[in-house]
Amino acid sequence: MKDKISNCILNKDFNYKPIWFMRQAGRYLPEFRDIRKNNQDFVKLCLNPELVSEITLQPLKRFDLDAAIIFSDILMIPYGLGQKLEFKKDYGPVLDDINFKEIINTDEKNFLQKLLPIYKSIEKVKKKIKNQALIGFVGAPWTLLLYMINKKSPKKDFDFNLINKDKYLKNILIKKIEKFICLHVDKQIEAGANIIQIFDSWAGLLPEKELSNLCYIPTLNIVNHIKSKKIPVICFPKGIGKNYVDFCSVVKPDCISIDYEVDPNWIKNKLNNIPIQGGPDPKILLSDEKKIKKNIESYLDIFSDYPYIFNLGHGVLPDTKPDTIDYIIKIVRNKK
Ligand code: CP3
Repeated sequence: MKDKISNCILNKDFNYKPIWFMRQAGRYLPEFRDIRKNNQDFVKLCLNPELVSEITLQPLKRFDLDAAIIFSDILMIPYGLGQKLEFKKDYGPVLDDINFKEIINTDEKNFLQKLLPIYKSIEKVKKKIKNQALIGFVGAPWTLLLYMINKKSPKKDFDFNLINKDKYLKNILIKKIEKFICLHVDKQIEAGANIIQIFDSWAGLLPEKELSNLCYIPTLNIVNHIKSKKIPVICFPKGIGKNYVDFCSVVKPDCISIDYEVDPNWIKNKLNNIPIQGGPDPKILLSDEKKIKKNIESYLDIFSDYPYIFNLGHGVLPDTKPDTIDYIIKIVRNKK
């Protein structure tokens, strides 16, 4: 085990604080915007191994990071299942109506044919990195189900009852999604991913009484599958507040990623030494250096005697200055 993130997670090493960022490749980097300018179709871009590997490595060329995360999107699974997907400029993802029959009839061969370029990209990146972890990822069943039925970000408009209306459809769909998440994980691991992160970005929208059924249990099924492959799994059930503790006791992830609404002191004392990742609000990175330093150091102080992977409480925002990322890495590296 060469990489520092696996070492932190599996050996619960708290002496070295590994660092990477969610969305470390993306619009805040001018070199990403250059590529994006000439590649307006985001899905097509995600299926171009040459460019995906270049974009994935862009932040590693600039910064001293402990991981590469493959440049892709959680919505490539609905795409692989035959649901039309488009990313509209200044709007976000837009999906077509679900063609239930087509989705239910998608077989593994079909799906893998569509997503093969993603695995090729992982192989390419793997050849170019040495000591860094290579993080593969998937959306959790709930967050994927939500996008597939809502057809756009719930930020725009969302009604839980719409998703819950047809229980038969919901239950069949979530099982189908689970199966293809596992398949997508397997192929990423075969291609060289050595850690998997599960993004449940919209877990916080679930009514509390639905958390077990739609978040914990479907995620547990994926986590157990990943553990059976002897690969560490990081879970990010964003927005569930005090339920982070229940989540961990049911799902037992190898590492838990916290969002910026979670009190780091509180969670550290509630978890039984499960390694923790993340926390700081990405918006802090838009303020001045003094505020940034204070915030970052508060997390480092709290977790000084605890296995902790430095990251943010969500992805890097497009308005972040690349120098700020450098500044934070220096703070983390130089902290005694
Ligand atoms: O972290 C990384 O660097 C890896 C790449 C990555 C992307 N999306 C690239 C991307 C990862 C891990 C994701 C996951 C993802 N995608 C999530 C879970 C994490 C989260 O943010 O909560 C979600 C919910 C999505 C769905 C999605 N993709 C949305 C809602 C949007 C539009 C909003 C936005 O930030 O633009 C995307 C587009 C997207 N995915 C971009 C990138 C770099 C921006 C595309 C652009 O250049 O316009």
